[in-house]
Amino acid sequence: MVEKKSHIENEFDDNNNNNEDVNEDIIRMNPSTESPIDLEIQDIEGIGPTTAKKLKDAGIISVMDLAVTSADELAVEINASKDSAAAFIMAAQKLLRDSNVLEKEFITADAALEKRRSMLRCSTGSKVLDELLLGGIETQAVTEFYGEFGSGKSQICHTLCAIARQPIEASGLDSNVIYIDTEGTFRPERLNQIARARNFDPMHVLKSVAVCKVYNSSHLELIIKDLGKYINDFKAKLVIIDSIISLHRAEFSGRGTLADRQQRLNSILHKLIRLSEIYNIAIVITNQVQSSPDTFFGDPTKAAGGNVLGHASTYRIYLRKSGENRIAKMIDSPYHPYSDVRFTVSEKGSDDIEDVKKNNKKTSKDEIFE
Ligand SMILES: Nc1ncnc2c1ncn2[C@@H]1O[C@H](COP(=O)(O)OP(=O)(O)OP(=O)(O)O)[C@@H](O)[C@H]1O
Ligand SMILES: [Mg+2]
Repeated sequence: MVEKKSHIENEFDDNNNNNEDVNEDIIRMNPSTESPIDLEIQDIEGIGPTTAKKLKDAGIISVMDLAVTSADELAVEINASKDSAAAFIMAAQKLLRDSNVLEKEFITADAALEKRRSMLRCSTGSKVLDELLLGGIETQAVTEFYGEFGSGKSQICHTLCAIARQPIEASGLDSNVIYIDTEGTFRPERLNQIARARNFDPMHVLKSVAVCKVYNSSHLELIIKDLGKYINDFKAKLVIIDSIISLHRAEFSGRGTLADRQQRLNSILHKLIRLSEIYNIAIVITNQVQSSPDTFFGDPTKAAGGNVLGHASTYRIYLRKSGENRIAKMIDSPYHPYSDVRFTVSEKGSDDIEDVKKNNKKTSKDEIFE
């Protein structure tokens, strides 16, 4: 039987056509569309077969898909008023709440703490960077790394890919990863090197990362729109977008188009936040910096994307180069202390300065005694 490939699978094919093994495995990995939650669109109060068909035609096939859509988008897609679109979304969210997939509107703080305990963490490969993040990047959150070119954003992303495949006891997520590459900087050979240097099975790691190369902002918006399905299909607990802003920044450059750009970014980011919570996954985005000429004291660079990005990420980490090393600073978080740490980039990806020094020392000693 010939399996029908989804849009993203075709995307992956285009990107990975040099690597038959990885490709085949991505398709074999999980071609099913079965949802971890056994709920059908028709189970939603107020949705009959006609609306269910309209939703399916618009690509909304699960209750989760509907719950993460925005009312504006849905109204256009199913040709309904914004009010009825909002009512469908709220009914989907209510069904998820009643089924204990989503939190109730009000929960007591101890129950909230319990839910936070179900959150998973993935190591960044550097102990000090993990400490800054109080244990690594979190599920149910969007973590943003921003910084100038060469500051280590993509290196952290590659390292996270290798570690996410590792068991939970080894600070991984025991899961696959979706990597959305908007800058063409994903390198399977670098992932291979990081996996080898960390004594992970490189093939196991390479086969667990589904890469999608994105060429323009509309393409990115399309991929994000269907991201819930891809997360489900590929059983990913980590989604990386490197970078979130480059395409929109390049395509919407004039002043007149700024409002449109911000509105589009806003809708992407809100969808990402909802996805991270509903699927209990970690989302990592990278962002560029821009100079802020009105700064008289301190660092005259700030994250690109303005308030829209600032408010959307749960955690923001600013990366700076410092000689051969990197400085990471927690800029915005509801509970992390605003401290900074120094880490480095080695063949193991993001790494600790001390460990690199130790390893270097060992190598030279070995050489002496050889
Ligand atoms: N195999 C390696 N071993 C050691 N260091 C490496 C290795 N590969 C890359 N690096 C370091 O990582 C740097 C590149 O970092 P990275 O690609 O993460 O930058 P970035 O923050 O994503 O920049 P951009 O904004 O251009 O995308 C290189 O300049 C180099 O210092
Ligand atoms: Mg990069």
